[in-house]
Amino acid sequence: MQKITIAIDGFSSTGKSTVAKQLAKHLGYVYVDTGAMYRAVTLFTMQNGWIDNNQFDVVALVSHLDAITINFQFNPKLGFAEVYLNGNNVEHQIRTLEVSSFVSKVAAIPEVRYQLVKQQQQMGKDKGVVMDGRDIGTVVFPYAELKIFMTASADKRAKRRFDELVSRGDEVDYEDVLRNVQERDYIDSHREDSPLVKADDAIEIDNSDLTLKDQFDKVLDLVTKTV
Ligand code: C5P
Repeated sequence: MQKITIAIDGFSSTGKSTVAKQLAKHLGYVYVDTGAMYRAVTLFTMQNGWIDNNQFDVVALVSHLDAITINFQFNPKLGFAEVYLNGNNVEHQIRTLEVSSFVSKVAAIPEVRYQLVKQQQQMGKDKGVVMDGRDIGTVVFPYAELKIFMTASADKRAKRRFDELVSRGDEVDYEDVLRNVQERDYIDSHREDSPLVKADDAIEIDNSDLTLKDQFDKVLDLVTKTV
């Protein structure tokens, strides 16, 4: 079967990565979580003390972008690829609410986007890839054969993210998670460089009331109709 590029974009915590992982596994495709890459750059910035009490040293970050190496390594026990920052597994650290509260500011920096988009295009150059993020169908792969735009109510999304964080053992407050989801959506949709918008040719799926199985069946049906 001919391999295609599948771009999945949408608001925070819409379950993009869940469906993207399922799809990649089913099709034997590579899955790339681009949000994890922006999160890794954010973690690097925090580790270096360039984000502190809402002070953000953009100049320091931009001048050290070459010092950041991000890789994905498949973990057979988990069944998905984990994120490595400069050789260290940071899969857990990048998902904290602290990283979430800064990531959209880091992701709004054009130099950061330029570097990461280049790497993402390289990762998907041979097709057979499912990539999720905010600008995959608009900027990274504007010619992707299938583009999906996921949405769900803010409340449902915050509940999902809250459950995810609690199940990992993080102590979080639901209201903080909701605020973070709304804040990120606002910054992501209003930034100058590559704002989160639905590509004209993307198919929108609102999964507020869909089960995971219904959602997967729907997306797989779209893939079948595309290839
Ligand atoms: O997908 P996830 O919620 O982990 O993404 C974290 C953040 O990374 C988003 O809120 C957004 O600011 C940024 N992001 C982006 N472009 C992408 C993927 C993520 O700006 N392609």
